[in-house]
Amino acid sequence: MSQVTLDTTLPPNSISVTCTAPVNIAVIKYWGKRDTKLILPINSSLSGTIDQGSMRSKTTIIASKDFEKDEMTLNGKIENITSSKRLNAVLELIRSRAEDLVDAEGKVLIKKEDWPAYKIRVVSENNFPTAAGLASSASGFACFTSCLATLFSFKEKFDGELSSIARQGSGSACRSLYGGWVKWVMGEHVDGSDSYAVQVADEKHWPEMRVLILVAHGGQKEVPSTSGMETSVLTSPLLAYRAKEIVEPRMKAMEEAILKKDFASFAEITMKDSNQFHATCLDTYPPIFYMNQTSKRIIHIIHALNDLAAKQGLPPVAAYTYDAGPNAVIYTLEENMEKLLALFNSLFKPTGSTEEWIADPMGLSFVGKNVAAPEIPKEWVEAAGSIREDEKVYNVFVSQVGPGPIITEKKNSF
Ligand code: DP6
Repeated sequence: MSQVTLDTTLPPNSISVTCTAPVNIAVIKYWGKRDTKLILPINSSLSGTIDQGSMRSKTTIIASKDFEKDEMTLNGKIENITSSKRLNAVLELIRSRAEDLVDAEGKVLIKKEDWPAYKIRVVSENNFPTAAGLASSASGFACFTSCLATLFSFKEKFDGELSSIARQGSGSACRSLYGGWVKWVMGEHVDGSDSYAVQVADEKHWPEMRVLILVAHGGQKEVPSTSGMETSVLTSPLLAYRAKEIVEPRMKAMEEAILKKDFASFAEITMKDSNQFHATCLDTYPPIFYMNQTSKRIIHIIHALNDLAAKQGLPPVAAYTYDAGPNAVIYTLEENMEKLLALFNSLFKPTGSTEEWIADPMGLSFVGKNVAAPEIPKEWVEAAGSIREDEKVYNVFVSQVGPGPIITEKKNSF
């Protein structure tokens, strides 16, 4: 489909809101629904919110009486809001809860009962390549939801209500409504009213935490999360066991590790949970393989470094986690991040400059600054071993834990 641009100049008597929202990376994975329509999970989950300085979705929504229908473009392509069940569900849930639009002086610009006459125009984009297999539905739906909520003056009746709406766009999106460390409580009610996101700690709580995203996706087709988890629920006894026995105690231990900033426990639980999620994929029939040879190599490297640290009486260097694709997300602390980045650079960077290969827009590392990369410990180089031809990392993103959605602009032409 050709690229299109919607006209975003404000017609008279209209309002426009722009919002940005973050990606999140789960350390306790969500996989499996007990209700596919309401998007209710079979287990709770927990994630870190990735700083929008490195990756984000951005959405502008204009509401006007002049528009004939609701319209949307996503990364320059037309999306049919009304025929997308999920976009439509989120839009109608918020639209039906619209309140009076009031200006700073208290003057009512749009009365609650007049909203049905307004149609919307949505322009949404990600600043990271969707083709790289980086989860964009979480940030995209979190952004769409937050933007609509501000536009329609939506007021939460309970904490987390808005996240329960974002959840109906994409499950993991509910966790992107908050910054820092966020859990999605599975809830038990059949109507989903108690299945929403709760912030465990904000983005300032563990400032030393860093996140490296290693893109190992070579453009291959993967099983989408939605259909993959559906098959897993139907066929994997391991997934049922995980949901029943493993996740709840793990959630408690993870929350405690985060609150105490206990990196050793955090890292162990993160890696075990990623491994178990991928084991349930293998236990799915037919099996689903999300990790590739590069993913496995990175797992071996991280364990080799962590074993070395353990021998020296040190906490682990890093933790890996993988979503429904081969990209590695590495959680590590500031003290080890640059050395780790330099190691990955020496192992995986193809010909070309480090600045092209590593994106560090927040300036968290040596990349892009006129400084030398830190020396990589000799034992690390030995422990990591050598890389095979087919083990490729195409790009690296450097980030940290950051805030939730941000309303960046609000204007009207009344
Ligand atoms: C592996 O939220 O994309 O990233 O609810 O069907 O939209 P839907 O699925 P989605 O699944 C994400 C799965 C995961 C793990 C996680 O983020 O917890």
